[in-house]
Amino acid sequence: MIKITSFLLVILLSIGQLFAKEGMWIPILLKKYNLAEMQRMGFKLTAQDIYDVNNASMKDAVVIFGGGCTGELISNEGLLITNHHCGYSSIQAHSTVEHDYLTNGFWAMNRSEELPNKGLSVSFLEYMEDVSDQIFAGTENLSGEEKEQKIKENSKNIQEKAEKDGKFKAQVKPLFYGNQYFLYVYKIYTDIRLVGAPPSAIGKFGGDTDNWMWPRHTGDFSLFRVYADKNNEPAKYSPDNVPYKPKKFFPISLKGVHPGDFTMVFGYPGRTMQYWPSQEVDVTMNQRDPDRIKIRDKKLAVIRTDMEADPKVRIQYSAKYAGISNSWKKWQGEISGLKRLDAIDRKLAYEKEFKAWAEKNGTWEDEYKAVFDGFQSDFKKYDEYIRANDYYSEIVFRGVELFRLAGQVNAIIKSIEKEDNKKVAATRKSMLNSILGFMRNYNQPTDEKLFAELMPMLASDLNNRFLPAYYLKLIEKYGHDKLIEKVYRKSVLTDTEKLKKILENGSNKQLAKLKKDPVIALYASFYNKYTTDITPELQAVSAKIRANMKKYMAGIMEMKKGQPLYPDANFTLRVAYGKVEGYKPKDGVTYNYYTTLKGIMEKDNPEIYDYDVPDRLKELYNNKDYGRYEVDGEVPVCFTASNHTTGGNSGSPVVNGDGELIGVNFDRCWEGTMSDIMFDPERCRNITLDIRYALFLIDKFAGAGYLLNEMDLVE
Ligand code: ARG
Ligand code: GLU
Repeated sequence: MIKITSFLLVILLSIGQLFAKEGMWIPILLKKYNLAEMQRMGFKLTAQDIYDVNNASMKDAVVIFGGGCTGELISNEGLLITNHHCGYSSIQAHSTVEHDYLTNGFWAMNRSEELPNKGLSVSFLEYMEDVSDQIFAGTENLSGEEKEQKIKENSKNIQEKAEKDGKFKAQVKPLFYGNQYFLYVYKIYTDIRLVGAPPSAIGKFGGDTDNWMWPRHTGDFSLFRVYADKNNEPAKYSPDNVPYKPKKFFPISLKGVHPGDFTMVFGYPGRTMQYWPSQEVDVTMNQRDPDRIKIRDKKLAVIRTDMEADPKVRIQYSAKYAGISNSWKKWQGEISGLKRLDAIDRKLAYEKEFKAWAEKNGTWEDEYKAVFDGFQSDFKKYDEYIRANDYYSEIVFRGVELFRLAGQVNAIIKSIEKEDNKKVAATRKSMLNSILGFMRNYNQPTDEKLFAELMPMLASDLNNRFLPAYYLKLIEKYGHDKLIEKVYRKSVLTDTEKLKKILENGSNKQLAKLKKDPVIALYASFYNKYTTDITPELQAVSAKIRANMKKYMAGIMEMKKGQPLYPDANFTLRVAYGKVEGYKPKDGVTYNYYTTLKGIMEKDNPEIYDYDVPDRLKELYNNKDYGRYEVDGEVPVCFTASNHTTGGNSGSPVVNGDGELIGVNFDRCWEGTMSDIMFDPERCRNITLDIRYALFLIDKFAGAGYLLNEMDLVE
């Protein structure tokens, strides 16, 4: 019985792939693989309308926003829309207790009020190209390290050639685990100004409670403007810069969405792992996700308590909290989704199918048997080391905040020891630059609690051989209880003003003395242990796994020859397509595909921070003052569709069959968060902000309707 069901599931899964809603496709290969199907599903344009090197196409209106989001141009004057959570740190940077744009929102009422953002950039893709032949040229008779070296060298040459005239930034990235390579060439703009953001009570409505969940009512958008010099070229901030004239921007549809409508998401998905072997799925769902969830439970509890007690701490820690909570929650959904799919069994079934294929064509014994034997033994070691790595990463490198400063000072001390004066000066300077930002968002009592909660987890959960002797000695001497007093509070790092002075005026000798500082010494012991005993082993075993993965992937490509196959996401421009549809999360429950303003009022609760609806929005609701955004007496807010998306797709344009913007992607449904590893067409849905809600807020809520004049609205 069980066998029959999993067999059927495999068939269903492969049919699902044929009518692909699954997949993040390469824009320049759409014509070959996807266009016919897209058109069957309701797409009315051509592949060139999406991507064309010679003429303006949709791809010219899609950008990388900041370091990890997508954004799109929506006017001829450089106006850009992305998510509120993507603009969050910029909005936060302009916020103070007096001018709290995070809480109250921000709307420039004219160009001169738009706010510049240090460090923010927007990248336009000029072109992409399959450079596999050039990358593999001269590697035919090489293997192992030598081959990797040659590939690196070729890749560097290609990159340098593409960047030659100084106008572009180029990247060569592997696809299919290094069985193919693509070149991506970008033009990067750095004068990006904040134009508008709703209050967090709208842009982050539902907060971390509703995050990753449907039904959803978040107005998750913010507006920016790209500025250029007089020749429309990138330039650093200057009041003389002018709005950028894009080659292409998205027209905005007011026609709305209906079940079954074609949808396309065009953006930058970050990372997926569709081809992982069973062992990696296993360690992820049964070890890594649970480990990291457990550590973050503690971090979140500490930070939440302090944020609730003090509005200043709320502002300081809001972005940090959201970041920690986001993956923490996704991992929980991922575990349950993978369990429900019987992911490991499915992977094993797939591996069996692969083996049968290889046996049939006589390649199993010579080529692939060793690959799977390798996985079998390598993952035993990997599992152990990745646990240590996860704990170090969550607690030492991204947990206790003071360790961040310790890490920077430690780096300076190391350069002093190496007598690398240039590096010493440079690191001093960069630390001085970042320390102000650090202090701004640092609350020592909160960090002390983090230290007290997190440090004991290292000793209790990791084998001593993964821990530095110095730390073990300290806890033997003082116990974890006294570490705060004897170590943390004795450190110069808690007196950041003093530290700043030493960095500014202290001699190298003075700086080198900080080696004895208790927190710096403790950090250094972890750092040394990590870099000498953990990383090298982990890298070595990961390299073996990757080499085998490359062979396995080549085998899969061979096995699936002639069928459309998409490479894992790697933060490059991709197209996902599907249709507007709800889903059945569990027995007896069906989710509608859209939500409305009414649902916001139903969630309203002034006592709960995440659900405290602003008065102005209530007023519009009570007066039914909806203007042209009303549909059947309601204002649409969000909708779900079956597009395969992941982190990085935040802010991506969601486009209808006519190539018009119908919404801005911002999330996935809880029941489908395992789609990075395994896609389930029944339950994987992306969540989109209905563009009409954004327009309603800009126009009716904020009174910034003047911005609509520069948009191309299609009725
Ligand atoms: N889950 C979405 C994403 O992965 C939104 C995250 C931001 N929102 C939040 N409440 N933390 O990025
Ligand atoms: N919110 C995610 C992001 O920041 C997108 C949601 C997802 O992971 O699908 O990219």
